Amino acid sequence: MTFPKDFVWGTATASYQIEGAAVQEGRGECIWTRFSHTPDKVKHGHTGDVACDHYHRYPEDVALMQSLGVGAYRFSISWARLIPNGTGAVNQAGIDFYSRLIDKLLEAGITPFVTLYHWDLPQALEDQGGWTNAALPNWFADYTALAAKQYGDRVKHWITLNEPWCTAFLGYMYGVHAPGVQDRKAAFRAAHHTHLAHGRAMQALRAEVPNAIAGTTLNVVPHEPATDDPRDVQMAHIADGLQNRWFLDPVFKGCYPADIAAHLTSRGLLDGLDLDAVSIAAQPADFVGINYYMRWLIRHDPNNPENYFTELPANAQVTHMGWEVYPQGLRDALLRLHRDYAPPAIYVTENGAAYPEPEQVTGDVLEDPERVAFLKGYLSAAAEAMAQGVPLKGFFVWSFLDNFEWAEGYTKRFGIVHVDFATQKRTLKRSALYLKQIIETGEL
Ligand code: FCB
Repeated sequence: MTFPKDFVWGTATASYQIEGAAVQEGRGECIWTRFSHTPDKVKHGHTGDVACDHYHRYPEDVALMQSLGVGAYRFSISWARLIPNGTGAVNQAGIDFYSRLIDKLLEAGITPFVTLYHWDLPQALEDQGGWTNAALPNWFADYTALAAKQYGDRVKHWITLNEPWCTAFLGYMYGVHAPGVQDRKAAFRAAHHTHLAHGRAMQALRAEVPNAIAGTTLNVVPHEPATDDPRDVQMAHIADGLQNRWFLDPVFKGCYPADIAAHLTSRGLLDGLDLDAVSIAAQPADFVGINYYMRWLIRHDPNNPENYFTELPANAQVTHMGWEVYPQGLRDALLRLHRDYAPPAIYVTENGAAYPEPEQVTGDVLEDPERVAFLKGYLSAAAEAMAQGVPLKGFFVWSFLDNFEWAEGYTKRFGIVHVDFATQKRTLKRSALYLKQIIETGEL
């Protein structure tokens, strides 16, 4: 068999992208509710107010997952659903919702992998500076302790943060994600606090759930020089440092990469941060999760504020997101992670693709040959990495359902299950049945 019997096959989602009931049932406002209700932030003014209505339809969704033979489900808890203001009073309806979901999953023989933070910060905390506030790691540790206390008897697999690069850079530097801040210094401050928050959350998890299997999820994105011009080669190294090493080194080595720290310090971007404090991020982890979607080619450009820009190779095949289809990049990223950081175990916690699909479908199955080919390619690349010694233990397809794709609203469909957002009807795509077959046979 290409994949071992105990390989974990899963699907992944995130709270704000699927739940709906965004400000109902006691849930506090989160930064994505605020952001998506602000004109011109999200395509067509789409919001997560209803999304896939998973909050009410979770029994049907779990049953569908079970019918595919999926062994694990990665979902996230909405902080504002448990603690509406981020700190203080707890919302019992929110506690109960995840409790019911977890029980349903366990009944269906599906192992829950819980992400504690997938981007939906309580707005009340953003009103105090959000991730730029030095108190954020404390607040996050308290919330983590609450979730661990509530669910740790049934949930063993915990992921602290989803893609902190996106939290910091899309949220506070480029402003394309909530909270929509555009401030370079704030972004590095936010990134610093994600590291501290991860460390504090790991400690809280260990304290509450002694047999927890815990780690974080990072988006590893290969940055390769576009040419062999030494200036491109040098900029690719820096770009990789900003995107990848700035997040991997704290978690695995307890420090920032010195070259990037020097690069940023000379630009005043780390002023006021206690860089040594990042050592707390290197808590012993049981695994690292990686989300894999893209690679970039890097060209130096002195006229660009970053001194470089990213581009696609000529004739690149791309998905609906404009991201390159390049399975070898996943293999390379896994080999690199293994070589440079040697985590005890790795999970691909997200990989998948959006392709243009109709809003309404008829028939029992929607044919999605491009996604089937995409998954086959990336799973082959993952298998190659395993054959070369990478301790890859599982793979979660993004996403179980078509959902609210952040700033793209509902215009990008990543699901292996189609959702008709007018009626909430779910329809399997061929890729879901393909996944089912892989799970059954261990073969691609
Ligand atoms: C990842 C996010 C996930 C989804 C995919 C397409 O960066 O973690 O929520 O939006 O991209």
